[in-house]
Amino acid sequence: MKRFYIETFGCQMNVHDSEKVAGTLIARGYRQVDKPEQADLILYNTCSIRDKAEQKVYSRLQQFKRDNRNGRVFAVLGCVAEQEGERIFERAPHVGLVCGSASYNRLPELLARIEDGDRRVTGLGLDAQETFETPVTQRDNPHRASLTIIEGCDKSCAYCVVPATRGPERSRSSQLILTEACELADAGRGEIQLLGQNVNSYRDPSPAAWDFVTLLRRVAQTPGLRRVRFTTSHPRDFVGEIVDAIDENPVLCNHVHLPVQSGSSAVLERMQRLYTRPEYLARIEWIKRARRQIAISTDIIVGFPGETQEEFDQTLSLLDEVGYDSVFSFKYSPRPNTPALALPDQVPEQEKGRRLLVLQERQRAIQIRRNSLLIGRREEVLVEGFNAATGQWIGRTSQNRTLNFTHASLPAPDGRTLVGRYLPVRVTRAGPNSLVGESADLI
Ligand code: 5AD
Ligand code: SF4
Repeated sequence: MKRFYIETFGCQMNVHDSEKVAGTLIARGYRQVDKPEQADLILYNTCSIRDKAEQKVYSRLQQFKRDNRNGRVFAVLGCVAEQEGERIFERAPHVGLVCGSASYNRLPELLARIEDGDRRVTGLGLDAQETFETPVTQRDNPHRASLTIIEGCDKSCAYCVVPATRGPERSRSSQLILTEACELADAGRGEIQLLGQNVNSYRDPSPAAWDFVTLLRRVAQTPGLRRVRFTTSHPRDFVGEIVDAIDENPVLCNHVHLPVQSGSSAVLERMQRLYTRPEYLARIEWIKRARRQIAISTDIIVGFPGETQEEFDQTLSLLDEVGYDSVFSFKYSPRPNTPALALPDQVPEQEKGRRLLVLQERQRAIQIRRNSLLIGRREEVLVEGFNAATGQWIGRTSQNRTLNFTHASLPAPDGRTLVGRYLPVRVTRAGPNSLVGESADLI
């Protein structure tokens, strides 16, 4: 029996793709191993969102440069595969398979050719009409699961490789999605995350022709589901009905990730984001007016070409105005084949670094303030693990906060575990990135 090892870089979409690739391999009779040394087939599912992410795969491939003895095959999948294509063979001649995510349906055929002794096979191109469907998906987490609703992206943000690496939007049929949600719930996975590069532009290809909100409401009715999340939203396509749906149904987690990228309308225009600062803030208002308190997180890029100090200051003032619960912030990284590459006035690396630190410092204070508001409250967590170093259980709230807590009658796993349970926890302390609490709930 052939053994494979897969390592994943990048976003949740990639993590979930790897679960499907693993399922495809297992259905072909392969067995998954946790060390590359034990494998006949080593796969890297790669990310090219920023230069750093892209460099990681080449350093991995270097480590094993002279190691394709005994017919060991190396495969590069995902965004770097699509972006670099056959150039990967030149840079890393020991690679045998290069396949982008829009071609994953061809994996069985490509693997068959590898098994027959082909030295180099490729699955490239973005003309896919369909989504990646697998007979088996190898999900390791028994309590939480990802579920793809839409692949690809039809936007053209000036900095972003995704349209060129994942191709145009393809939505899965609502029937397939609902069936998968039922199967996940039946298998005891109480929390699911609906995934897509832009979930808000979901459009059911079946005659039902559901939009995203209809799908969201229907998925949330799946018996056995405790929590439904979704990511990522695009502000241009985010509608008020999403907030209504969250308000009406506690199964829908009270958290929205709404990437803004910049607080300056001029920068947003250069980024081709298709909304202005006031339009973005109008959506934030919808979310804040909800009856349930909905946590808001975002992504921000600093140092986009031409970003002046004043424009950067507007991003800082946006942080204050919105009061985000968490922020993922990045230095702009010029990417191949993106419109921003040709823009003048690249901000010097050192200045980007400075702005990133200023922004993170500002946001840290906001998070300490926001998290402190929760002290004394009871929050329901899904228990995800136990940290032996601190003696705390690790939980996650519906708002997606980490809440580390001690438990009165189960201070440590003693053969029994709390992992996978939903428990009320009283918040006693707050830091910038997590909460601390206590649970006395009977187990
Ligand atoms: N440079 C820096 N950050 C980027 N992102 C996307 N492209 C780039 C780039 N070229 C960030 C955006 C996006 C997140 C997933 O990654 O903030 O929302
Ligand atoms: Fe990275 Fe974007 Fe590809 Fe995800 S879609 S793996 S973030 S480049």
